[in-house]
Amino acid sequence: MQLQIVPSILSGDFGHLADEAKRVEEAGADALHIDVMDGHFVPNLTLGPKAVSSISRACNLFLDVHLMIYNPYDYIEPFVKAGADRLTIHLEATEDVEATLGFIRRCNVQAGLAFCPETSESILPKYFDKCDLLLLMTVNPGFGGQEFMPEVLKKVEFAHEFSKKYSKNAPLIQVDGGINLQTAKACVAAGANVLVSGSYLFKAKEMREAIASLKALREELDF
Ligand code: DX5
Ligand code: ZN
Repeated sequence: MQLQIVPSILSGDFGHLADEAKRVEEAGADALHIDVMDGHFVPNLTLGPKAVSSISRACNLFLDVHLMIYNPYDYIEPFVKAGADRLTIHLEATEDVEATLGFIRRCNVQAGLAFCPETSESILPKYFDKCDLLLLMTVNPGFGGQEFMPEVLKKVEFAHEFSKKYSKNAPLIQVDGGINLQTAKACVAAGANVLVSGSYLFKAKEMREAIASLKALREELDF
């Protein structure tokens, strides 16, 4: 499977979200990551369904919506209507994880499940066949521009090893937080196949080149 590169619009200019989404599309990204924060689960506030709907109209990118919110169940339908293609909920913020993942899938979008850095890997196998993507956070969620936490690589390796048993039905393994060319290399070597990157891609002189160099990692590492 090809490595997917997914820029996070959190590092974009919020005064020009539509233009930023088009810029990401023209730069050759595989999808667009949209961070939704509620000021409770994480100490920050960002975007809601209305902004997602505007972004959806502005581009043809697959919209990967990362919900850092409590009670995500209540917001699934509004985000699906807004044009989300995947909704990722947090294990730590969700009362009934299985029911919420099931509902997301019944809405005909992909279901992702995110884990904070300190959450133990031992709980991962329970959800392997219940989601389309595992998001292993490589920073504490809430802000862009933080430093990558290398201790999460063990969890990525664990997920990768486990996913071999599931072959083609295995969920994607996404990493998010502090991803640049160096840290991406370590993540891909550990088994990640979807890389979210905010500040590194948005600050790059040429986003297209930065995306291409991340994409090339898979071949470089001979996967
Ligand atoms: C952090 C968000 C990330 C963030 C990543 O809570 O989930 O998606 O945008 O930004 P960088 O790549 O700058 O760490
Ligand atoms: Zn995110």
